[in-house]
Amino acid sequence: MKQITAVVRPGKLDAVKAALVAIDVVGMTINDVRGFGRQKGQVEIYRGNEFTVDFLSKMRITIVVADDKVEAAITAITEAARTGEIGDGKIFITPVEEVVRIRTGDRGNAAL
Ligand SMILES: Nc1ncnc2c1ncn2[C@@H]1O[C@H](COP(=O)(O)OP(=O)(O)OP(=O)(O)O)[C@@H](O)[C@H]1O
Ligand SMILES: [Mg+2]
Repeated sequence: MKQITAVVRPGKLDAVKAALVAIDVVGMTINDVRGFGRQKGQVEIYRGNEFTVDFLSKMRITIVVADDKVEAAITAITEAARTGEIGDGKIFITPVEEVVRIRTGDRGNAAL
C-alpha cells in the first residue's frame, strides 16, 4: 500500500475528488494547508530581486491505495489538477506499513 499526498489548488479539489472516485478510490482525507514551492509564494520572480516568502492557500488530499492503483491515482490527480501554470501543486508517494479498519479489524488492502 502507498500513501498519496497531493497538494493542489483549492479550486481543483472537487475535480480531483471526482477523478479519484471514478477510479474507485474509496477513502480520502483533506486539509486546508498553506505552503510555497519554488517561487516561494511569488507569482513571478526575477533574478536579483529580493522577495519575501509568502504562504499560499492549497488543499492537501491524502489517500492510501493498493500498490496496483498508484499509477492510476497519479494520472487522475495530475489530469484533474493541472492548469499548466506555476503552482499547480505536487504529489508525494510514501509506503504504508499497515491499515486497520477499526470496526472489523480488517488489515491491509482489505481495510482500505
Ligand atoms: N518540496 C516540497 N515539500 C513540501 N511541500 C511542497 C514542496 N514543494 C511544493 N510543496 C507544496 O506544494 C504547493 C504547490 O507547490 P508548487 O506547485 O508551487 O510547486 P513548484 O515546485 O514550485 O512547481 P511550479 O514551478 O509548477 O510552481 C506548495 O504551496 C507547498 O504547499
Ligand atoms: Mg511553485
